[in-house]
Amino acid sequence: MSLHRIAVIGGDGIGPEVVEAGVEVLETLAAAEFGLAFEFKRFDWGSDYYRRNGRMMPQDGLARLENFDAIYFGAVGDPELPDDITLWGLRLAICQGFDQYANVRPTRLLPGLTGPLRPDLGQQIDWVIVRENSEGEYAGVGGRAHRGLPIEVGMDVAVFTRAGIERIARFACDLALSRPRKLLTVVTKSNAQRHGMVLWDEVVREVVRGYRGLTVDWMLVDAMTQRMVNRPGSIDTVLATNLHADILSDLASALGGSLGIGSTANIEPSRNRPSMFEPIHGSAFDITGKGIANPLGSFWTASLMLDHLGEHAAARRLMVAIETVTGRGEHLSPDLGGMAPTAEVTAAVIAALSGLN
Ligand code: NAI
Ligand code: MG
Repeated sequence: MSLHRIAVIGGDGIGPEVVEAGVEVLETLAAAEFGLAFEFKRFDWGSDYYRRNGRMMPQDGLARLENFDAIYFGAVGDPELPDDITLWGLRLAICQGFDQYANVRPTRLLPGLTGPLRPDLGQQIDWVIVRENSEGEYAGVGGRAHRGLPIEVGMDVAVFTRAGIERIARFACDLALSRPRKLLTVVTKSNAQRHGMVLWDEVVREVVRGYRGLTVDWMLVDAMTQRMVNRPGSIDTVLATNLHADILSDLASALGGSLGIGSTANIEPSRNRPSMFEPIHGSAFDITGKGIANPLGSFWTASLMLDHLGEHAAARRLMVAIETVTGRGEHLSPDLGGMAPTAEVTAAVIAALSGLN
């Protein structure tokens, strides 16, 4: 019996709605799969916690999470609180605190979904975006001066280190080689950003030289957006910086049908500390509390978590159940053009899981 201890942080907005649906699905899987078991512990951290305690999570938050096998996360963001406080106080605090430097975001057009591209193009989407998750444009380095004066200034310094670039490039190369096409596209902007991005190019070039059998091509980030739309089949694994991949992966998710489907793994590859798994969407104030959030992104996320935990059969089984539901098209949420509330989509995935016995 392998028992996995999972820290559950629903966070804000629709976060708790989709994560609780995911826990239900994982419980169903555990009941159906011989030898699979979970112990879930909930943490009520987020914006309401902030209103009560003046912090997004307790001071010893990381220490409390340290011994879990994985973290299953919803979203952060509250209409009444500044985004930089909520994001840095919880999600980024965990990603950076645990050095989860590899952010992995798969995109595929699931069966039955059309997405905004022509069907022949949309069906070519089968990508994994690898996002540098510990430094770059989101390093948090910078400052403000002359506050309130006409000469006020705000600076964010993008931080690129040789070690940081090298480790994410290796991760992306290994991942690309594990996929059938063995094709890596490196995204850059070294024409306009002359220091950090040039170092990025140099170090990635050195790393890929050591990988035989890998096909590598390079794209400037602006041109990459049009390639994703016009030639989706020419892309497989993508390596990009923190900011670039953040933007490209929302585009990827939309091309895959909806932001409500995208999933993410924040991986700490040495496995000394837990990795964190979350849908890519935010707290979605506009639909919070209505019970109509699409939980499929959260379920796909759960499948990534199972893979990380070594439960590959269960991970595949969950993906097949998700694809069965999208393929039938009877229980889709409004963002996918259907009418099904969160609970109905969840019940359909649970029924599909049981049908796979
Ligand atoms: P968002 O992802 O929350 O929403 C964008 C649009 O997509 C909205 O119209 C929303 O209704 C829709 N949407 C998102 N997820 C959906 C789902 N599962 N089902 C159906 N529709 C869905 O992004 P937005 O509006 O830019 O940000 C809202 C808040 O979330 C902000 O405070 C932002 O900082 C935060 N945020 C947090 C993230 C995180 O915790 N990882 C990621 C992105 C944003
Ligand atoms: Mg984002």
